[in-house]
Amino acid sequence: MDYLLALDQGTSSSRSILFDRHGNIVAMAQQEFPQYYPQSGWVEHEPQEIWQSQLATLQAVIRQSGVSPGRIAAAGITNQRETTLVWHRKTGQALCRAIVWQDRRGEALCRTLREKGLEPFIQERTGLKLDAYFSATKLSWILENVPNARQLAEQGELAFGTVDSWLLWQLSKGRVHATDVSNASRTLLFNIRENRWDPALLDLFGIPANMLPEVLPSSASYGQMDEAIAGYVIPIGGVAGDQQSALFGQACFRAGMAKNTYGTGCFALLHAGEHFRVSGNGLLTTRTARHGEIQEYALEGSVFVGGAVVQWLRDGLGIINQSAQVQSLAESVPDSGGVFFVPAFTGLGAPYWDADARGSITGLTRGTTAAHIARAAVESIAYQSAALLEAMSLDARAGNGVPLQELRVDGGACVNDALMQFQADLLGIPVVRPQIIETTALGAAYLAGLQIGLWSGTDELSSLWREERRFEPNIGRDEAARLMENWNRAVRQTVAI
Ligand code: G3P
Repeated sequence: MDYLLALDQGTSSSRSILFDRHGNIVAMAQQEFPQYYPQSGWVEHEPQEIWQSQLATLQAVIRQSGVSPGRIAAAGITNQRETTLVWHRKTGQALCRAIVWQDRRGEALCRTLREKGLEPFIQERTGLKLDAYFSATKLSWILENVPNARQLAEQGELAFGTVDSWLLWQLSKGRVHATDVSNASRTLLFNIRENRWDPALLDLFGIPANMLPEVLPSSASYGQMDEAIAGYVIPIGGVAGDQQSALFGQACFRAGMAKNTYGTGCFALLHAGEHFRVSGNGLLTTRTARHGEIQEYALEGSVFVGGAVVQWLRDGLGIINQSAQVQSLAESVPDSGGVFFVPAFTGLGAPYWDADARGSITGLTRGTTAAHIARAAVESIAYQSAALLEAMSLDARAGNGVPLQELRVDGGACVNDALMQFQADLLGIPVVRPQIIETTALGAAYLAGLQIGLWSGTDELSSLWREERRFEPNIGRDEAARLMENWNRAVRQTVAI
């Protein structure tokens, strides 16, 4: 009984990873599933496709590993957050497609509430901005627009959940309707200070309380997987939203510890300790994955276009054929030759927050080549992350928090050594890459393992975390400040800040 199964349900694919008790990967399976874009600004998933792809990877990973299911001590779930599902309690059938976190259809309701001056009220309770990104306006939209939805909801016939709740329902064959604090804290309906669904917020968004899942700590007993799924009854011991799960998997358990995940976008989280504070620098306050009784917070910010800028070089500009070519092209020149690329394709997030900003490439000369543009594109990932982490440091200092000592990194693009070195240069602190960069799934495995007593506590998990490579800052602080100033000048040309 010494393996842990992590189910990692992401925005574009479902994955399952089997870990051993030392946190090593034993087997991994992944399956993509379709995305639906029915209108401009709308993004949907088919709930059954989420579930079936997750189930397929779960069964595949067990098969491939050769490990008998009876030796899997527990399973943990981690997931794309905010994505909103509603299903019939009696049949388990989804009422409509899932509305994905990227979907903007809730913007009109957000605007109305903003105009009524309600944003500070909401922020004080949830730590979030009043934005269509979060679940509340998506759920509200379903209740208003799907035929009979409100009536059925008021009769207690419907269940709401984020993806974790949907998977729990499926895995337990309808026996469990629950979520964890880290997922609940992304709904705009959960009071993260009082640790409960907030009646005032439910009222504001018109959500019947009977639809909501029970909220548990992230490491807790979430029931069991039905025997038919893996041929054995496996307990579910952990649930966390993917970014908080990655913070946990990176063993960032103390205030001042931070991680940045370099994916399509980048998500940075800084552990902020036990005191709730609203950011003065455009960041979100959110709950960390919770193990035990202590209630802790993190500051979060995201870069909307991270690795996606490389896809654009490939599909939009056509200067590379495959994403992997970007590294050699960027490294074929010593620097970007004064070119700055601000990939504000869909506006800019923290700390700039300008939905109307659009991308720019500046500093072009007669000598500029595709290589300079590729280099500037890769560097933009580091510049945007540095601006975000700088905002976090300002917040930490303002609240007498613990300043950032080092940055732990994960996600696909963290394997790019030049990018990580440039990140360290800009930040002036070490950037540290762990041996296991699948930290999102690892976090879910840790939460599940703690629940069944496989590990004694977070101290033991900290000792399992292993550094693979450390990038020390190589340039002076004056030089870094000059680079950031040039970057900010390029951003100013894109957006008024
Ligand atoms: O908040 C959205 C985030 O949880 C999505 O993560 O990795 O599925 O893009 P990912």
